[in-house]
Amino acid sequence: MKNKLKWLIVAGARPNFMKIAPLIREIEKNNSDRVKGYTKIIPFLVHTGQHYDDRMSKIFFEDLEIPKPDIDLEIGSATHAVQTAKIMIEFERVCIKEKPDLVIVVGDVNSTLACSLVAVKLRIKVAHIEAGLRSFDKTMPEEINRIITDSISDYLFTTCEGADENLKREGVSDDKIFFVGNMMVDTLLLHRNKADKSNILEKLNLSMNGHINNYAVLTLHRPSNVDDKETFSRIVESLKHISKSIPIIFPAHLRTQKQIETFNMQDYFEYSSSLNHTAKIQIIEPLGYLDFLKLTSNAKLVLSDSGGIQEETTILGVPCLTIRENTERPITITEGTNILVGTSSEKIITGAMKILNGGEKVGQIPKFWDGGAAKRVISKLIDQFM
Ligand code: UD1
Repeated sequence: MKNKLKWLIVAGARPNFMKIAPLIREIEKNNSDRVKGYTKIIPFLVHTGQHYDDRMSKIFFEDLEIPKPDIDLEIGSATHAVQTAKIMIEFERVCIKEKPDLVIVVGDVNSTLACSLVAVKLRIKVAHIEAGLRSFDKTMPEEINRIITDSISDYLFTTCEGADENLKREGVSDDKIFFVGNMMVDTLLLHRNKADKSNILEKLNLSMNGHINNYAVLTLHRPSNVDDKETFSRIVESLKHISKSIPIIFPAHLRTQKQIETFNMQDYFEYSSSLNHTAKIQIIEPLGYLDFLKLTSNAKLVLSDSGGIQEETTILGVPCLTIRENTERPITITEGTNILVGTSSEKIITGAMKILNGGEKVGQIPKFWDGGAAKRVISKLIDQFM
């Protein structure tokens, strides 16, 4: 048995950072808890640089107190093929030099696919966190990333029993699948009190003298929603209608900001930072983790096409309308506060009005979404190696 194991942890894009934070914390805790003579785990953090802007990356390292990456591949934006290929080339160099015992990938972004593929070909064991989620929609780049990553990983850690079923249906053997719960939830529960101290509501004029105004939060960035002008305009028209009843705060992803400019859609949005409480869609810059958590926690309603936000609103008990035709996270609908409204104007507006008129759904917390997922992952992985 080796007395040191090197585990290489990969993060590339914004939604990855919430998933690696509890993992690194748990590895450090495990190392300090173990008595002398036990195998030590050396975490080696690789940032692929898929997201490079401070607002999409650096602020999350600060908010979540993630240690500085051991290496940043600085890949940046490109087409899918170029981005994936560049990550593979650089990551292979890292693996050859560092000779890790394990590569841990999280989520479903291009970095997840690229790094798992490199590792498996170098015969390095791969663990995939958040395995088994399926939207059954192959037009979604993330669905391709999920299917391929799961098919080549050695250890598949799932957030719900539905994901286990998906993997078994695809022929993954039972002994590779570990239902451990949700690491995004670990992060949320750990940072909730800290987020509560954020002054974002005051900054946005949403809170005065302890009174919090009604508002909705919007996020939108999926290529299927923002890359086609007709679809994007239809969604925004519906939101404009809803904003007559409640102001909508929109921390816009950088790719969405670019699309708004490309399609010349600025007139739909309010850009001034001083809110005057009249109903509108107020665009703001992407927020850090703590500010965003505070904003969503106090919202009357969240409208989004994100994957992770469906899970976060379920934990927070805040109603969420998902502006997509499908979801890889159906448990947020069957157990949580999420409702899939698609992209038709009628459904988006009807869904929002129902909530605003008091018809919100009451959810429950899914099994193992309890803050202990990272601990379960590390304990299972240690069992595999020792
Ligand atoms: C990626 C993930 C998606 C995840 C999202 C969260 C894939 C296939 N998609 O999508 O699953 O929900 O991250 O944010 O991996 N950009 C910047 N600065 C940055 C990063 C991106 O300006 O730091 C802009 C660029 O115009 C870039 C575009 O956003 O071309 C898309 O970025 P990319 O990393 O390719 O994918 P996302 O759409 O962010």
